[in-house]
Amino acid sequence: MCGIIGYTGTQEASPFLLAGLKRLEYRGYDSAGIGVLNKEINIVRAQGPICELEKTLVKNTPDGSCGIAHTRWATHGVPSEANAHPHRDCSGDIAIIHNGIIENHLVLRRALTLRGHVFKSQTDSEVISHLLEETIADTDSLQDAFEQLLGQLTGAYGIVAMIKSSPGTLFVARMGSPIVLGRRDGDRFVCSDATAMADWVDDVIYLDDGERALLQPNNEPIIWTKESENISKQHHTISWDTSVASKKRYAHFMLKEMMEQPKVVEDTMRGRLIAQKGIAHFGGLEDVRERLREIDRLIIVACGTAYYAGCVGEYMLEHYAGIPVEVELASEFRYRHPVINRHTAVLAITQSGETADTLAAIREAKTQGALTLGIVNVPGSTIARETDAGIYTRAGSEIGVASTKAFITQVTALAMLTLFFGRDRNLEETEAIKIAKELELIPDKIESILKLRPQIKALADKYQWMQNAFFLGRTYQAPIAYEGALKLKEISLIHAEGYSAGELKHGPLALIDERFPSIVICPRDEVYEKTLSNIAEIKARKGPVIAITDIGNTDIVELVDDVIHIPSTHEMLSPLLTAIPTQLFAYEMSLLQGYDPDKPRNLAKSVTVE
Ligand code: F6R
Repeated sequence: MCGIIGYTGTQEASPFLLAGLKRLEYRGYDSAGIGVLNKEINIVRAQGPICELEKTLVKNTPDGSCGIAHTRWATHGVPSEANAHPHRDCSGDIAIIHNGIIENHLVLRRALTLRGHVFKSQTDSEVISHLLEETIADTDSLQDAFEQLLGQLTGAYGIVAMIKSSPGTLFVARMGSPIVLGRRDGDRFVCSDATAMADWVDDVIYLDDGERALLQPNNEPIIWTKESENISKQHHTISWDTSVASKKRYAHFMLKEMMEQPKVVEDTMRGRLIAQKGIAHFGGLEDVRERLREIDRLIIVACGTAYYAGCVGEYMLEHYAGIPVEVELASEFRYRHPVINRHTAVLAITQSGETADTLAAIREAKTQGALTLGIVNVPGSTIARETDAGIYTRAGSEIGVASTKAFITQVTALAMLTLFFGRDRNLEETEAIKIAKELELIPDKIESILKLRPQIKALADKYQWMQNAFFLGRTYQAPIAYEGALKLKEISLIHAEGYSAGELKHGPLALIDERFPSIVICPRDEVYEKTLSNIAEIKARKGPVIAITDIGNTDIVELVDDVIHIPSTHEMLSPLLTAIPTQLFAYEMSLLQGYDPDKPRNLAKSVTVE
């Protein structure tokens, strides 16, 4: 949340900053700004998405080779130009950008105001520039002043500061919000997200919590810890496919990312799945293989869509690998005093690898002695680095705020993890081979479902009046119902609830009438007949029903209003197929409601605040 980028080097800063902000826009889009130091600090800011800032910059692009920029997702203070970063101190000689939340900002602000500082924004971040103004006045060295500033802050931050009296220098600090440093030749970059500067750098350094850095053109960064110990850190070379960060011929990132799903599922399986033997290998789990054999309980922690992937994993792993699994909302886990021991593994599922709640859950699990694992998409992200072992999902950059391809790769990884655990436990070889061979067919089956887009668009047209919807399913389809409802509400702003179909009669059925449609996910599985009874209960109350079921299931046509037919597969893998029509439906509905599916209201990707 909030994207930050800084540049210092031999070239003009503004073009890098603006291009970087465009790539970071998915991290926040309520306002943005850039500040460039060239004798004076010049700041340009605008409310709204980056294109608004760009319009302002056309008339007034600040010159200079050292600058900082920020795209905001509001926490404290409404979206407005005044609340946009960079923020200055009273003198105007200091400018800062900040990602995170300064928890003690009210106390600091009160004290600073009493000492004569004048605040121009409602943000928590502005205390940083004013405090720095004071510490600079009290200290001979700017580095010490920066350190003294940080000593007064409580909360989470990624900070970049620019000070007029130190041209060409960027002061950087990380505590809880990601910060990556990059370099090429004499140019130095700092960013909240390595992919945003991928085209311009040869390698990167990931700062860890409590680390600070001073960046200057041509020089190695000076990096020190909060204990004031100077350290040197490894440079990481990463091969990025920067083309994934562009929409190509698609109208939206979300559409492009949905269409990429057959390919990314293949990528997730490549070199890991040996279908003829019914086994899966993970290089990233080799080091902990022995310890994994001693694990008698797995706790999955995740948020949002990743949490629903975890719920699918719970069904898979308990059913076929025989390992007890609990799935926990990461935001609750840490605060409910979970009982964990050496025989517990805690598995984080996360696209970004930076979600603050999930990271906190993993840290909690670690302090209690659990083995920590990750199913992570972004290489080098904090959770990827802090877990003991893990699996990369290889979905590539996911820019659309609503997660689609990352979810599908998470479920694919969980299916393979089921084979991995299952073959060490009680999964029969014949069943494992059956699952693995079906898994190999999933990309083609997803491809065929994606071709249903015109039919699903027509359905969205037909139901575009709806203001509420239920998504219903049982066993493996219950998490797909939750996820389908989340997708619809976040991008089309239609109220939707996901329920296990069996729960309806325990309360929610009261809402059903002819204006309250239900999307029922009902492949012909173990509980198919039971789901049909739930459909009958809805129809008896005049509720419209759209069913998602197998090709060839013609019986259902007379029972419901509309049917989406999709290919059949092994029950355990069916969520990989049933999720696709729900994504397409949400996307089409979002367009019909006049929204930009890539930028859902009030949301941003990579939730780095608690
Ligand atoms: C919804 C969505 C979110 C994320 C959640 C966790 O479409 O994308 O619910 O799944 O914020 O994010 P990660 O996976 O980055 O930890």
